[in-house]
Amino acid sequence: MAAIREVGGEERKKAMKRISMHSHIRGLGLDEKGEPIYIADGLVGQVEARRAAGIVVKMIREGKLSGRGILFVGPPGSGKTALAIAIARELGEDTPFVMISGAELYSAEMKKTEVLMRAVRSAIGVRFREIRRIYEGVVKDIKFAMARHPFNPYIKVPRAARITLATKDEEKTLEVGEEIALQLLELRVRRGDLIWIDADTGAVHKVGRVKGVEKARYYDVEGVRYREMPKGPVFKEREIVRTVSLSDLDEAAMAQRRAWTSIFGVGLVEREIDPEVRRQVDEQVKKLIEEGKAELVPGVLFIDDVHMLDIEAFSFLTRVMESEFSPIIIMATNRGITRIRGTDDVAPHGIPLDVLDRLLIIPVRPYTPDEMREIIKIRADEEDVELSSSALEALVKIASERSLRYAIQLMQPARIVAERKGRKRVEAEDVEEVARLFVDVSQSVEFAKKWESKFLK
Ligand SMILES: Nc1ncnc2c1ncn2[C@@H]1O[C@H](COP(=O)(O)OP(=O)(O)OP(=O)(O)O)[C@@H](O)[C@H]1O
Ligand SMILES: [Mg+2]
Repeated sequence: MAAIREVGGEERKKAMKRISMHSHIRGLGLDEKGEPIYIADGLVGQVEARRAAGIVVKMIREGKLSGRGILFVGPPGSGKTALAIAIARELGEDTPFVMISGAELYSAEMKKTEVLMRAVRSAIGVRFREIRRIYEGVVKDIKFAMARHPFNPYIKVPRAARITLATKDEEKTLEVGEEIALQLLELRVRRGDLIWIDADTGAVHKVGRVKGVEKARYYDVEGVRYREMPKGPVFKEREIVRTVSLSDLDEAAMAQRRAWTSIFGVGLVEREIDPEVRRQVDEQVKKLIEEGKAELVPGVLFIDDVHMLDIEAFSFLTRVMESEFSPIIIMATNRGITRIRGTDDVAPHGIPLDVLDRLLIIPVRPYTPDEMREIIKIRADEEDVELSSSALEALVKIASERSLRYAIQLMQPARIVAERKGRKRVEAEDVEEVARLFVDVSQSVEFAKKWESKFLK
């Protein structure tokens, strides 16, 4: 499963919801020749768009898509977001994949170009090979010094820890401060664990467990990896390969600068990253690449509901696509001919022509009732909802007349109604009942019109 990264912590919850709607999707469901299998990897039908998406994945892997983008167009609920997530799953964890929705640009805390810039730089990975100085060994003993939480007297927090690490040849006891102690606690490090601590950054890594450590308890838990006791000294140098995003590097550089400003008593907390810091990061990265110490891993930035971008955001994106550090940009929209935000001009999908010019466009068609039936079955299975065949048909009817998403959203309420009637299986009457209780958008508009005079203005 691909690591889907998000920009900004506040957005994470929203993103989780968005992804869980698509939790049944595991890939594009293609055979060895790249031909879509009608139902596979959680996807149903939409054969041509999936074939196209398969070609996109191949181009991304071969590095043949830089400086260009992909646009999915189609009506609501036709699977555009689903297909973009399927692409992420296909690419796997090595390719950074960042997802934002056009609406997220308009956050109160940050300028929209800053939100976009962060998203772009999160989608570009840098793979480093570096020599790190580390402490590695099996935990023979660990003790925490606890103190009261400064704001909450009922909570205790670690202030420091004393940890003894051992190899076959050596044993060393380290006194560590709060930051490392906290990580040891969070990772639940205990006797018998094999860990290493980065001597310079203090990052703690848990590798597995080693059998036969005195006073350590061993349970038969699944998923625990048993390791050999390491040899040699506890403190050593090791080559480590890691991939970080340009955005991670920006943050690290900014954090360093903030530390300096706070030392000098300037209480200014900058949320935005100084362009100068980014320029320095880019220069460093370029230097490392030239020296053969790092390589660039261009990832994918997926911008959903791209019609929410305004003219300023679009011109920013064109600049990004032309720059040397550019991710592959995938967009999706359900708008036809519409106004470009921030202008009076009308354009296809609300996207300026010079941007459209750089895009390969993949049309996504509305589903037939048969396709919707299969999608609803997969979702019911995923959400653990048991549907009678008449309930399934009722949902298919709702999906065709209203929308697929509305039908999918009715499944959980229908399950609750069925359970209240003492049934595990959802029947057609339960579906009909919840369809009366919860209306879709067009019904809610009718409702608002009918009672217009009584609504607050
Ligand atoms: N071909 C498919 N196979 C399986 N599930 C699908 C397929 N297409 C869509 N779905 C599921 O149907 C629901 C609606 O699809 P999705 O959100 O991808 O539509 P969309 O085209 O992005 O719509 P919008 O324009 O409103 O954003 C989601 O739960 C999605 O996972
Ligand atoms: Mg969508």
